[in-house]
Amino acid sequence: MDIRFVTSGGGDAVAVMGGEGGQLFAAGQGLDSAANGRITRALKAARFTGAAGQAVDVFAPEGVDYERVVVIGVGKPDAADGMAVERWAGAAVKRMLTGGAEKIALMPDTLPGVAAAEVAAHAAMGARLAAYRFDTYRTKMKPEQAPTLKAVDIVMEGPAAARARAEKDAAVVDGVFFARDLVSEPANVLFPASFAERLRDLETLGVEVEILEPAQMEKLGMGALLGVAQGSARPARLVTMSWKGARSKTGRPLALVGKGVTFDTGGISIKPAASMDEMKGDMGGAAAVSGTMKAIAQRKAKANVVGVVALVENMPGANAQRPGDIVTTMSGQTIEVLNTDAEGRLILADAVWYAQDKFNPSAVIDLATLTGAVIIALGNEHAGLYSNDDELAQAIGAAAQAEGEPVWRMPLGAAYDKLIDTPNADMKNIAGKPVAGSIVGAQFVKRFIKEGTPWAHLDIAGTAWKSGPYEDPLSPVWATGYGVRLLNRLIANKYEE
Ligand code: BES
Ligand code: MN
Ligand code: ZN
Repeated sequence: MDIRFVTSGGGDAVAVMGGEGGQLFAAGQGLDSAANGRITRALKAARFTGAAGQAVDVFAPEGVDYERVVVIGVGKPDAADGMAVERWAGAAVKRMLTGGAEKIALMPDTLPGVAAAEVAAHAAMGARLAAYRFDTYRTKMKPEQAPTLKAVDIVMEGPAAARARAEKDAAVVDGVFFARDLVSEPANVLFPASFAERLRDLETLGVEVEILEPAQMEKLGMGALLGVAQGSARPARLVTMSWKGARSKTGRPLALVGKGVTFDTGGISIKPAASMDEMKGDMGGAAAVSGTMKAIAQRKAKANVVGVVALVENMPGANAQRPGDIVTTMSGQTIEVLNTDAEGRLILADAVWYAQDKFNPSAVIDLATLTGAVIIALGNEHAGLYSNDDELAQAIGAAAQAEGEPVWRMPLGAAYDKLIDTPNADMKNIAGKPVAGSIVGAQFVKRFIKEGTPWAHLDIAGTAWKSGPYEDPLSPVWATGYGVRLLNRLIANKYEE
């Protein structure tokens, strides 16, 4: 989709803002007076309140050059921020994506405390994110289901500053779309080897990509990762993506580690049939890491960042690991596998250790669709954040807030850690009682973080995809790409020179 920042635009349709109280902002008032008050009359007739996301269409108003004027609410005007503008623009684009219009104009108004260039950049971001579709496998789409929208004009004063930002923002959107594509692909298409091949393509952007196969992982002693993979006919891969954008290429990198279970049946501790298809998205952590690498390489971030993704398929099979099996990790610690469905932590154990051992990172952040328990705790609104470092946790919280990918910090502690002790090995992979499930998962990963390494774990089981009837103006019905914007912002704020 083509986005332009212009001082006066045109198109088949236009979107303007409405605020709580039901009134139009300045841009809409201009159109309304040209149309002799027809727009405000339409708003009244539709009982428009200006609530965020509420929309009213006015078709072919006389005196206006557009065939369609769409008024969309942004909520309380003085509480509206950059993210409100994004959702407004996203709602506009979603409403008009397949409606026949080829070109539309967005007329965002400046908001208290948000500069004009900022407003325009957010509008562009919202427009881009909302236009995402995953139509790869739809061969029989009816014409009215197919998108018609090709171009968006963002109408504003002084567009130069917005243009300067747009290229970097487009790189981030590309990263988000890469993550969404990966989460959307079915598991017969996206499995460890094919996932790794897609990451190979990042080399064209200057990312160094290294792909480990099972024999090499065996040599490194990754018994926990390989234990999960052994039930599948599709062999594991461990992929590292290095972006060296700092002046000193040897400076300690930030390490991002992702859970990449391309399908999670649960293994021998098999899951129930209902909604099991959703487990094709159990690589959302790996997708977020991959999307971030793509974004930062494309915008040439001045930081050293390494992404490590552990790619396996968790299947029951003749060679699958059994409940009770004891595996030895690369760290030397042993794990009693009491539930083969708690597999994410097993592959992370080896992946975070490898990342620390090989790259001596300044900090480690892992992302994983790790537990159903985090969805019980936080729903689909926040990812769970667990960290041994307050400063890192705060920086993640700020980045999350700014990018509309919220996190909620959860506690860690010795009493939780104790729950995974077992007489049979160094630890077991489940607590064995239904308490604090997402924290227990985090405590498990923490046992593989070296003393003194700042670390954060994001449990994104509730945010990587949406399975309910949620209407999110910035996301498609399924994969959100959660994590890419957050990590990109964190890198920009905290790790770039
Ligand atoms: N991939 C699942 C977690 C999950 C559940 C993600 C629902 C997204 C939606 C994970 O591997 C898993 O199965 N976790 C178990 C852990 C339990 C056995 C301790 C769970 O949450 O039930
Ligand atoms: Mn599982
Ligand atoms: Zn899983």
